[in-house]
Amino acid sequence: MGEDDRAPPPAAPPGPEGEGRHVGLPAERPANGNGAAAPPPVDAPPHVPVLIDAILAHAAPIRGTWLDGTFGAGGYARALLAAGAERVIGVDRDPLAFEMAAPLEAAFGGRLELVAGTFGRLDEIAGAAGALPLDGVVLDLGVSSMQLDRPERGFSFRHDGPLDMRMGQEGPSAADLVAALSEEELAAILRLYGEERHARRIARAIVAAREQAPITTTGRLAAIVAAAMPSRRGGRGGRIHPATRSFQALRIAVNDELGELVRGLAAAERALAPGGVLAVVTFHSLEDRIVKRFFKERAPRVHRNRYGAEEAAPGGSFELLTRKPVEASGAEIAANPRARSARLRIARRTEAPARSVEPESLGLPVLPATAGRRRKGRGG
Ligand SMILES: C[S@@+](CC[C@H](N)C(=O)[O-])C[C@H]1O[C@@H](n2cnc3c(N)ncnc32)[C@H](O)[C@@H]1O
Repeated sequence: MGEDDRAPPPAAPPGPEGEGRHVGLPAERPANGNGAAAPPPVDAPPHVPVLIDAILAHAAPIRGTWLDGTFGAGGYARALLAAGAERVIGVDRDPLAFEMAAPLEAAFGGRLELVAGTFGRLDEIAGAAGALPLDGVVLDLGVSSMQLDRPERGFSFRHDGPLDMRMGQEGPSAADLVAALSEEELAAILRLYGEERHARRIARAIVAAREQAPITTTGRLAAIVAAAMPSRRGGRGGRIHPATRSFQALRIAVNDELGELVRGLAAAERALAPGGVLAVVTFHSLEDRIVKRFFKERAPRVHRNRYGAEEAAPGGSFELLTRKPVEASGAEIAANPRARSARLRIARRTEAPARSVEPESLGLPVLPATAGRRRKGRGG
């Protein structure tokens, strides 16, 4: 999910800026998580997980071993266990996500196991836990409120803090990228990962500013971006904060979020048992395009004839459980504004073998080679 980048919609339930956010992009997604360090009571989740009821309904009955690749505050894991999963492996690349999980672990005994790691390796993680094949995999993409609302994590342009943005606390930070990449590389990241129309002028401003002094705080970067915008967008009162897209782009680059998504989808295909379910909740078009294309390749459909209904083609490794992405109902959005840009795609594994994945065929933006090389080897 993304930074709280838009003015709150008039009818949205209240939620002061910074409260209860659990974020994707690019829209505001106030909601789950209160960002507090104290563990929540088990019967009072720190946030309302998005679209979990739809996942449970489409995947019913919930049985066997599931892997929650984006454990966060544990909302999905909790719901899966309560719905009948015998065992849930909760994976998060941010070890701090597990800070609040002790009550949940205690409530479900040995049925919940927590593993620090990336969902791009979920098949290896499940293998090491003796959990293969899996009966279900859920991915709820983005960052959590616990990450966004802590200034020291450096995700938010609304709170001044170190320019970090690493979910996993390893590898280059956003400050490192901003210091090291060329103007061209920065512009490509802003354009491809942030869909920022003013990528080139922002990149130019960043390069000019870092010659004066290193850019090490979120506040300074946000100010540089705002000043680089044409006055209409840089001014106050706009619907979207001028730094929204740039922060989104850098966060995606720092955490290789889209590469992780491609690896995670392929790993889920390898790890799921026939009949197992893969559910992915996305929050912006770059993510959704990748998931949509993955399922289009893996769950091909044919027209029987010109007028006939479309049906599943034989040989696909997944069968779609819904033809169109599931969106939150008006009631869910009213209760949880973060849900308004969420899209659930969900499919059931067939017996067809897994196959290799071509990232570019899924719509993964290709960065200039130098940026890719610099980012190689990043962990966490
Ligand atoms: C939106 S939150 C998930 C919230 C969770 N569904 C809940 O109900 O509490 C996303 C979480 O996924 C984690 N995450 C993001 N990308 C990841 C990746 N590639 N591998 C593992 N964890 C990841 C983030 O650190 C964050 O804690």
